[in-house]
Amino acid sequence: MSAGFRPTARLEGFRPYRPRKAATTPVYKVDANEASASPTNLTRYVDALPAEALNRYTRPHDLEVDLAARLRVTPDRVVVTAGADDGLFRLCLLTLEPGRQAVLTTPSFEMIPRYVALAGGEPVAVEWFGTPVPADDLVAAIGPETSIAFLVTPSSPAGQSADLATAKRMAEACAEVGALLVIDHAYVEFADFDLTDAALDMPNTVVARTFSKAWGLAGLRVGYFIGPPEVIEWMKTVGQPYSVATPSVVGARAALAGGDADMRARIERVREERQRLFEALRTLGADPIPSEANSVLARLGDRGVPFTAALADQGIGVRVFEYPELVAGSVRITCPGDGQAFEALMAALPRAMRACES
Ligand SMILES: Cc1ncc(COP(=O)(O)O)c(C=O)c1O
Repeated sequence: MSAGFRPTARLEGFRPYRPRKAATTPVYKVDANEASASPTNLTRYVDALPAEALNRYTRPHDLEVDLAARLRVTPDRVVVTAGADDGLFRLCLLTLEPGRQAVLTTPSFEMIPRYVALAGGEPVAVEWFGTPVPADDLVAAIGPETSIAFLVTPSSPAGQSADLATAKRMAEACAEVGALLVIDHAYVEFADFDLTDAALDMPNTVVARTFSKAWGLAGLRVGYFIGPPEVIEWMKTVGQPYSVATPSVVGARAALAGGDADMRARIERVREERQRLFEALRTLGADPIPSEANSVLARLGDRGVPFTAALADQGIGVRVFEYPELVAGSVRITCPGDGQAFEALMAALPRAMRACES
């Protein structure tokens, strides 16, 4: 480190967020839980842009009103953020400082422990990987030092779902100690159950949603949170002004106005692919975890890195996890929602398995 520049002690060991990249650009990129096909009606987004889209600042208020109507809540219960990431970070800034704890699962959506650390909080991690959700352990981990708890469901990176009873018990435990519960529902549209409506009646609970996954609009970077008005007001307070770009606000509104048909069709495709992918991985002995997200995680251990390399040799980019230790060697494969990409993936899997076993 240069003498004239001293990052804070809590940044010790941090590096820019950069998932491991394949040596060559994949033909089929199924490593980041994005949609592979671009929206069918791209012109809808471009046509919706007003003449002042680039020279004026925008507040996402109209989008918040649209989302509130869709969710049947008052607009003061919704805040739009620059991706769900931005909102998760705001929630950490809002609740954490040295001496305060965040309850989370391990593994988790990897940005959550990162935001907890950046905000100066102490993570209290509860193992949840390939088992039913450990409700008792999660509730027991919430104590007087807890300021925030995270329940990612479907989970990341495994795609497992938690049940309503667990969410309710966590919310009650959080309310008792004056903590917030965040239900990260980034993948909920692909799941069998949606906890959003029930969460609206739970104390101290905020739900994170995004346009990046089921809507297939990751490039827009638009997320939204639904919660009690005072928490939403605080999330706006700790956010930066105009954090969501005008074309993104306009694009998300155009997506909502265009209706759900495209999204529903994408969800159907992803679910079918997920079933086939799971079966294929199981047949190959890749130990997949049943998933309700848009991906399947295969627990390959020592075979994970060579398997990933063998897929890359066939033009398929998947994500291999190296940490935390529990997940090391696990490979997450996104269901692309696109026939060509999916069939290429299915053809490549057995060859990759043979290559990494030989
Ligand atoms: C569980 C989970 N939460 C939140 C996010 C962030 O979503 P966004 O693209 O809206 O920032 C992701 C992105 O991959 C995710 O997997």
